[in-house]
Amino acid sequence: MKRSTNFWAVVPAAGVGERMNADRPKQYLDLAGKTVIEHTLSRLLQANVFSGVAVAISAEDPYWPELSFAQHELIITAPGGKERADSVLSALKAIRAKAKDDDWILVHDAARPCLTTEDIHLLIDTLVNDDVGGILALSSHDTLKSVQDQDILGTLDRRSVWRALTPQMFRYGLLKTALEGGAEGNPAVTDEASALELMGLKPKIVEGRPDNIKITRPEDLALARFFMEQQ
Ligand code: C5P
Repeated sequence: MKRSTNFWAVVPAAGVGERMNADRPKQYLDLAGKTVIEHTLSRLLQANVFSGVAVAISAEDPYWPELSFAQHELIITAPGGKERADSVLSALKAIRAKAKDDDWILVHDAARPCLTTEDIHLLIDTLVNDDVGGILALSSHDTLKSVQDQDILGTLDRRSVWRALTPQMFRYGLLKTALEGGAEGNPAVTDEASALELMGLKPKIVEGRPDNIKITRPEDLALARFFMEQQ
């Protein structure tokens, strides 16, 4: 039987972004005249591959209803959860009636506004026939140390260490099972791939672009603006 090639995007956007020290969650900060999340959603929609985009929003979020995207026909809003994994699971449940277990889900951070259509298609084209799925990732140019209490314990082999980016692409049924089986409320599960790894599966990495940064600290906004100008 032919497997589904339907795609959905899931955007966890219920975090507060404490490291930004801002007056509002980082996804609502201004970046070249639009909020960070508006850039992110525009880029996902521009790829023209998704049947819908499920966005997890905190119950106390006064900013989301003000955005035109809140009324967009392809956008479905879901309540955010305590940890990122809970928010992703909530978004998956919001599309339960429409998505099939075999459909592909691309989970992408609201705080990564520089994602390119090129990277979305690279991820999809590389993994569409894969049994497990995988993630965009970056190799490390720096020498990497394992550290405890500021003492270096050793040097990691940087060829075997990659930085996990998003989107992360898995089939609906497998991702939901992985998140429900121990990832829910588990702060160690900081991305979707780690939930699948806990099941003993081996997601693939696909080398992404270095400009797909996550807005985390105040200086990242200027960097994102620079990358957008270059793109
Ligand atoms: O805090 P961090 O940058 O790791 O968050 C990554 C993404 O997960 C952000 O888009 C954030 O809004 C989202 N998140 C969420 N629910 C949480 C925590 C984070 O949707 N409880």
